[in-house]
Amino acid sequence: MRHSFILSLSFSIYFLTLFLSIEARHHFHTKHKHYSHFHNNSSEFSLPPSSLPSPSSSSVPEEAPSPAPASDHESYKNASGLFDVRTFGAIGDGITDDTESIKMAWDTACQSELALNVIFVPHGFSFIVQSTIFTGPCKGGLVLKVDGTLMTPDGPESWPKNNSRRQWLVFYRVNGMSLEGSGSIDGRGQKWWDLPCKPHKGPNGTTLPGPCDSPIAIRFFMSSNLSVQGLRIKNSPQFHFRFDGCQSVHVESIFITAPALSPNTDGIHIENTNDVKIYNSIISNGDDCVSIGSGCYDVDIKNITCGPGHGISIGSLGNHNSRACVSNITVRDSVIKVSDNGVRIKTWQGGSGSVSGVTFSNIHMDNVKNPIIIDQFYCLSKECSNKTSAVFVSDIVYTNIKGTYDIRHPPMHFACSDSVPCTNLTLSDIELLPSQGDIVNDPFCWNAYGNSEALTIPPVFCLLDGIPQSISDNDIDHC
Ligand SMILES: *[C@@H]1O[C@H](CO)[C@@H](O)[C@H](O)[C@H]1NC(C)=O
Ligand SMILES: *[C@@H]1O[C@H](CO)[C@@H](O)[C@H](O)[C@H]1NC(C)=O
Ligand SMILES: *[C@@H]1O[C@H](CO)[C@@H](O)[C@H](O)[C@H]1NC(C)=O
Ligand SMILES: *[C@@H]1O[C@H](CO)[C@@H](O)[C@H](O)[C@H]1NC(C)=O
Ligand SMILES: *[C@@H]1O[C@H](CO)[C@@H](O)[C@H](O)[C@H]1NC(C)=O
Ligand SMILES: *[C@@H]1O[C@H](CO)[C@@H](O)[C@H](O)[C@H]1NC(C)=O
Ligand SMILES: *[C@@H]1O[C@H](CO)[C@@H](O)[C@H](O)[C@H]1NC(C)=O
Ligand SMILES: *[C@@H]1O[C@H](CO)[C@@H](O)[C@H](O)[C@H]1NC(C)=O
Ligand SMILES: *[C@@H]1O[C@H](CO)[C@@H](O)[C@H](O)[C@H]1NC(C)=O
Ligand SMILES: *[C@@H]1O[C@H](CO)[C@@H](O)[C@H](O)[C@H]1NC(C)=O
Repeated sequence: MRHSFILSLSFSIYFLTLFLSIEARHHFHTKHKHYSHFHNNSSEFSLPPSSLPSPSSSSVPEEAPSPAPASDHESYKNASGLFDVRTFGAIGDGITDDTESIKMAWDTACQSELALNVIFVPHGFSFIVQSTIFTGPCKGGLVLKVDGTLMTPDGPESWPKNNSRRQWLVFYRVNGMSLEGSGSIDGRGQKWWDLPCKPHKGPNGTTLPGPCDSPIAIRFFMSSNLSVQGLRIKNSPQFHFRFDGCQSVHVESIFITAPALSPNTDGIHIENTNDVKIYNSIISNGDDCVSIGSGCYDVDIKNITCGPGHGISIGSLGNHNSRACVSNITVRDSVIKVSDNGVRIKTWQGGSGSVSGVTFSNIHMDNVKNPIIIDQFYCLSKECSNKTSAVFVSDIVYTNIKGTYDIRHPPMHFACSDSVPCTNLTLSDIELLPSQGDIVNDPFCWNAYGNSEALTIPPVFCLLDGIPQSISDNDIDHC
């Protein structure tokens, strides 16, 4: 069902793009029962001037573009379901605060009963938006088509005092939405990363205590049937994307970039979210490429290129003795380069719940510090005590993982909890070579059960056979 939704949405957008690029002189027709109903207010909704380049051929503007051309209403065409933010008063000169206009465009599109409503952010303009919650549910399907640039206010000093410092663009309770376009979303994170509370940014390279909230660029909260496609998202003050409490998410062909040393700039974080597809995307940043938190299942990650960064992570899970459940996760056909980790599962001491049914397959590693790692002793302060409970890790498959590792760390590291061992880890077709020299580091295992099906490079002799005697089903929380 979701596929048909995305298909029909894609088809509609394809049609719309075609329509824009051939600058048709006809009205935009959609087969829809509410079409006539919409016409009574059609002057509010118009196409961009025909002099604009077609969105499909436009390049991404990096600089604040020239201001809007004189509004030429003659050349505007009426079209139901297309909401150009400029017709709501947005200026897009990279200076003006366009928050109110863009909110108005959202509210109007959200109330429209057409099957498809496109909020259009035109190429060649940069719109500054403050922290905003775009709330649904909306009456019809919604597309936020960003061909221009959406930007944050520039850094903490410019952030309005009464705005949330934890999030910037939030989509809340939206069912059926696509965020797409050839444009970019710019978090302008530098001044946030330089706050004295950030690692090594205090006086003389210290880190000062105190609140350090920095906004997540794009957050989808309690929403469903979402698609994010084609955009460039850069320099978020904190995570670039966070999906929490969402269902049916399809991320496709996006580029995320932030400097390798930018703190906490995870590419895509998901939590309590299921039915997720992340395909054909390129992410380089200063933290996890993709991070999968508690409550996620049915996640498929395919053909992504990560790095520099911290690799793909499941976790951290079980913090503050919490219960975490993660299952049915696949990461395949991907590349991880110059990263602190490759594929990682990390849990804190004292948690409960389980991580199970995870497959990492066909992954190329290029100069990665810990290409394959399970760390059940995850701890930020180095002062965490060992506990008797842990998130149970089982049924993890690693297959066809090849490439090079940074010799300062073992290529495979399975550090499982003392009380709750990891079980049924399966390795096959592993070939990890040192990126420099020929010193081969031995794999590390601690309380890890499983088997290495074929000869791996380096060979893994440290996995324990069979099923551990010590655990009974009572100790394990299967979720
Ligand atoms: C997602 O869209 C499909 C098809 O349009 C619909 O049947 C389904 O109920 C939607 N999912 C949710 C959670 O609303
Ligand atoms: C169109 O007119 C009807 C009846 O006057 C009204 O209920 C509806 O809200 C209008 N629609 C728009 C989009 O203005
Ligand atoms: C657009 O709609 C307005 C108001 O309904 C109408 O006066 C105008 O002629 C229309 N323009 C075009 C190009 O169709
Ligand atoms: C037409 O749309 C505008 C913009 O949202 C709205 O303020 C106005 O009330 C609508 N007019 C009618 C007649 O519905
Ligand atoms: C913040 O303050 C401004 C100016 O006082 C006000 O217009 C705006 O609505 C406030 N925003 C929030 C989210 O409270
Ligand atoms: C920073 O280091 C310099 C030179 O060591 C020292 O004089 C200065 O007091 C230090 N500043 C702070 C805030 O610690
Ligand atoms: C993989 O993703 C890249 C980057 O988006 C894309 O260029 C390439 O065509 C994709 N490969 C396949 C097989 O889809
Ligand atoms: C696992 O997730 C995939 C989607 O990524 C789904 O197609 C499949 O049915 C799920 N498997 C189970 C056993 O739920
Ligand atoms: C926790 O347990 C691990 C494995 O037994 C051990 O290496 C580590 O030193 C322990 N940590 C503490 C703080 O006791
Ligand atoms: C081990 O894990 C694999 C992959 O998740 C699964 O298919 C298999 O049933 C598991 N074996 C046992 C004995 O649980």
